[in-house]
Order: sequence, then structure tokens, then C-alpha cells
Amino acid sequence: MTMKQVEPGVEVAPTPVMDVATLSNELVNGVKFGVATDEDLTTVSALRSNSEPWKGRGESQEDSLKALTQLKPFLHVARLQNQIVGYVTVERDGPVPGAAYLRNIVVKPELRRHGLGALLLNKALDAARDMYRKTIALRVDPANAPAVGFYRKAGFTTVATVVSKKSGKLRLLMSREL
Ligand SMILES: CC(C)(COP(=O)(O)OP(=O)(O)OC[C@H]1O[C@@H](n2cnc3c(N)ncnc32)[C@H](O)[C@@H]1OP(=O)(O)O)[C@@H](O)C(=O)NCCC(=O)NCCS
Repeated sequence: MTMKQVEPGVEVAPTPVMDVATLSNELVNGVKFGVATDEDLTTVSALRSNSEPWKGRGESQEDSLKALTQLKPFLHVARLQNQIVGYVTVERDGPVPGAAYLRNIVVKPELRRHGLGALLLNKALDAARDMYRKTIALRVDPANAPAVGFYRKAGFTTVATVVSKKSGKLRLLMSREL
């Protein structure tokens, strides 16, 4: 870690608070991926419960923690300057037979539209290829415009409209080749 010079001979560690204005290409290049530790699960569950679509559904952080604990083997966590900035989950099987399944992708709200989602998605595509899959699928609420726009930009197309067993609401089933 580089130390900031304040006056000759005096060095202080950089502050841990991330400044969005400094999010440059170099910083995006500095994103590191890893598996999730038990400690990380608390951070990612807060990220999930504070993000759509879970926030609008009133999911508590405790419920997010339960869900993500189950998904821990499939979780990839992105870190920038040692802080978690997003996560993605990829499973070998999902709603489309023979296709990998991207169940969750979330970027820290204040860091969206800086390319981190695209980086997380690339990680997910690589993880699916490592599972010897040729296709990846996902389900998305058609009302979640940012996510639908994001997936379309990344080359996903809608293959079916399905009814969620949990909520009875419509979901788009989208997929793309790997
Ligand atoms: C979806 C999500 C992961 C995108 O992350 P992001 O870091 O903002 O995405 P990127 O900056 O990499 O965006 C890549 C492209 O996706 C599209 N996109 C991203 N956000 C968009 C938005 N709000 N509206 C329309 N298009 C959008 C754009 O084409 C964008 O390229 P551009 O910025 O050059 O125009 C983020 O909005 C998020 O965490 N949402 C909440 C959780 C969620 O809904 N997850 C999906 C359901 S599981």
C-alpha cells in the first residue's frame, strides 16, 4: 500500500473511506476477486438487503444472511482497496437444463455505473466456463430496469417469461452463450 506524504518525513496511512470521484480505470483494474469468508457474509448480506430487488421485497439482513450462507460455495467477492465492493453467485445448475445459473449480482450502490458490474459478470462467465458450461442463465424481475439494461448490454436475451413460485410474479428468464 502506498503511503501519503503530508509533510517531509511524516507519513500517514490512506483513509479507509473510498472516494468515488477517484474511481478511475486504474482502480477498477485493482479489483481483486476471492471466495467469501464467514466475516464477508455479514458484509454481503447487508449489500443484498439494501439493494433492489430484495430491499423492495422487505428482505431483512438476517434473511439475506441465511440465503447467502446457503450460497457461500458459489459466491465470488470483489474487493477494491480491501473493501468489498460487490459480489456474484454462479451455480452449475439452475432453471435452464445444462446451463449455469447466475442467481445474484450486486455492486455497492455508490459505486454503480463505473464498470464494476461488468467485471463481476466477467468473473461469473469465467466461473461458468470452469464448470464446463456453454450457456449461463438468470432470472430477473422485468421491473428491475437497471438489471435488465445491464444484462441486455452484456448480451443476454430473454428466452421465456416465467412465474416465480415464491411470489407468483413474472420473471424474465434470460441467457447467453459463454
Ligand atoms: C445491475 C448492477 C449489478 C450493475 O452494476 P454496475 O456496476 O452499475 O454496472 P456497470 O457500470 O458495469 O454497467 C455496464 C452497463 O450496463 C448497463 N447499465 C448499468 N446500469 C444501468 C442502469 N441503471 N440503467 C440502464 N442500463 C444500465 C449500461 O449499458 C452500462 O454501461 P454504461 O455505463 O457504459 O452505459 C447494479 O445496478 C446493481 O447492483 N443493482 C442492484 C442489484 C440487482 O438488481 N442485481 C440484479 C438482480 S440479481
